[in-house]
This record gives sequence, C-alpha cells and structure tokens, in this order.
Amino acid sequence: MNKPEFHIFVCTSSRINGTQKGYCHSNESTEIVTNFLEAIEENDISDKVMVSNTGCFGLCNDGPIVVIYPEGTWYGKVTPDDVLEIVESHLINGNIVKRLEI
Ligand code: FES
Repeated sequence: MNKPEFHIFVCTSSRINGTQKGYCHSNESTEIVTNFLEAIEENDISDKVMVSNTGCFGLCNDGPIVVIYPEGTWYGKVTPDDVLEIVESHLINGNIVKRLEI
C-alpha cells in the first residue's frame, strides 16, 4: 500500500494486552470499523484510505470516537449507521460531517 491520503482511527478501546474493553467497544465501535472497511471497498477508495483501530482517546463520554487525518477531524458519538455518511461526505466530497464533529 502507498502512503494513504486519509487515515481513519477508530477507538475500539484496545488495551496493551490485546483485549478490547471500554466505552467505545461497548458501543459498537468494532461494527464501525467493519462498516468503514466495507464502505471504503464498495466506493473503490481502498487505495487511498487506511483504517486503524486504537486504544482510548480519553474522551469516552463523547465516544465512540473516530479521528481522520490529515484534517485532524474528531468525530464523537459515532454509530455504525453514520459511517456511510462520513465516507461519502468527508472522504469522497471533502465535507466534514459537522453534526458529528467534536
Ligand atoms: S474508550 Fe474510546 S475514547 Fe475512551
């Protein structure tokens, strides 16, 4: 893979010992990762987008948290149903989804 144009970080509450335990994981963040991977594939942009799951960002009250670079956009209270909108609006059309931005 070439250096991605966008890098998406999704908090899945991953801990250093490999377990996933925490607020975001308890609120469907692994489904958010899966939906991103599927939407990226379906929109044929997998050559320019990378998705990584992470540990806690320290903003659990606003979780599940999704962070997208290079913009440094932080999205909060993301649900699996929000993913397609983020992909189409932010990644494809360049418009941050304001209603989810924190
Ligand atoms: S567990 Fe996701 S921000 Fe804390």
